[in-house]
Amino acid sequence: MISDKMAKHINAQINRELYSAYFYLGLSAQAEVGNLKGTASWFRSKHAEEMSHALKMYRYLLDQEARVRLTEVAAPPEDADNILAMFERTLRHEREVTAAIHDLVDLALSEKDHATNIFLQWFVIEQIEEEATVNDILGRLRLFGDTGEGLLMIDNELATAATKMAADSATSAA
Ligand code: FEO
Repeated sequence: MISDKMAKHINAQINRELYSAYFYLGLSAQAEVGNLKGTASWFRSKHAEEMSHALKMYRYLLDQEARVRLTEVAAPPEDADNILAMFERTLRHEREVTAAIHDLVDLALSEKDHATNIFLQWFVIEQIEEEATVNDILGRLRLFGDTGEGLLMIDNELATAATKMAADSATSAA
């Protein structure tokens, strides 16, 4: 059992995770339009990953005998100008998600809700990894260029990373 306040905030985070999924699906579509197949595939894998985050929280609420309250998911932003802008937007977005997760931990600690605190630790670590990955991609885009051969190389790397992400999520779901 968790408090109504905690459940309300986890429900809000479910909405943020669903929005994240939507956000990445939008970026995937934009990348497709630009013929960046690897990038599109990477963003689609992120979409699936964010859906799994929402479902983790959904399951947690149900296991804690709390109500799941699904709310309207906002539309993702307009098309970004280029691939660099897509990943800069991604980093900004993930930093906001990190801050929201930290707020949830603060609430769990203030309520001495040990179960929710432990549950949220997985998300705290996940956000470190997500921000680091996006920072790495941005660094490579700046180093090798976001046009021509540099872009082709990074798009191919993202295709490989997307395949790995899909394999990892299949393993963790098994
Ligand atoms: Fe589920 Fe990337 O936040």
